[in-house]
Amino acid sequence: MYSNVYHVYPPTSVEAVGELKKIDLKSADQTHRHHHIRTDNVDSKGDAISSRIPLFFNSDVVISKAHVTDSMSTLYRNGNADEVLFIHTGSGLFKSNFGNMELKSGDYLLIPRGVIWQIEVKQSIRILVIETSGPIETPTRYRNKFGQLLEHSPYAERDIRTPEFVGPVADMRMEVEVKLQHGIQTYSYQHHPFDIVGWDGYYFPYIFNINDFMPITGKIHQPPPVHQTFQAHGIVLCSFVPRPFDYHDQSVPAPYAHSNVDSDEIIYYVEGEFMSRKDIESESITYHPMGLPHGPQPGKIEESLGAKETNELAVMVDTFKPLNMTKSALSVDDEDYPYSWIDS
Ligand SMILES: [Fe+2]
Repeated sequence: MYSNVYHVYPPTSVEAVGELKKIDLKSADQTHRHHHIRTDNVDSKGDAISSRIPLFFNSDVVISKAHVTDSMSTLYRNGNADEVLFIHTGSGLFKSNFGNMELKSGDYLLIPRGVIWQIEVKQSIRILVIETSGPIETPTRYRNKFGQLLEHSPYAERDIRTPEFVGPVADMRMEVEVKLQHGIQTYSYQHHPFDIVGWDGYYFPYIFNINDFMPITGKIHQPPPVHQTFQAHGIVLCSFVPRPFDYHDQSVPAPYAHSNVDSDEIIYYVEGEFMSRKDIESESITYHPMGLPHGPQPGKIEESLGAKETNELAVMVDTFKPLNMTKSALSVDDEDYPYSWIDS
């Protein structure tokens, strides 16, 4: 995909090449076990870039939490990765070279690499940030050969919000922080990169709100692929949203214990009562490495019997390669979580 952007000035006017501020992600623990991370307690503040605290990573993805308190004074572009910003709480204005979009709770903001942007905070924003080495796309199986979403897919183009074009900004010098494989480098430009008089094409940032996801339900328990919302190389991103439960008269609404032998599983809990877990709070992450059985905690299966619906809201990232955990993730990890399936 591509877009053409039409500038007032050539977009090449570099005045200064800054130093590379290195980012060196390190694996803090290789112990293989279940994890419950309370990301509410992650020590994070600053703007939408400086507040990012990486929690998990592998060669396909970096998952961070950001508690955004300040508006950005410079611009930013990811040079090597696409980004999904899941806006959990708060509000702000996303400004980009393609136009602006209001941000609200539940938004998945998808920013393809190369887009230049900044976020102005209105009410401090809590974001789950997912950076992917491959392009983020709608799931292949929900697209027809023309690229249009099929009628039975759980969302449609009409649910997608696109940037509102605002015209060229006044000419001024501007700094752009460029995220690269090994860190962030600042470039100073003679002309503001938002000197755009128009653009056309199919490559642009967009928003899909999780509350617009139309859940696929069944007579018995439906497996995780029904929750899939996006795909990228080495990952799938899924949405668990309020929905009617399985309607067979002997169905067990809580999911069965499973071992996801082919993926590491990250679930970020947004709101509501999660049917299979106890002691989970909003902003909690559970991390179940591949091959390790997990499922409803004692009492949760019985509790689900006869339930007609769930109000759970959660985001899941499954990765096909094992993840590494950072020191920041470990610092808010509940060490007793692996033992939460013992009958008491
Ligand atoms: Fe699972």
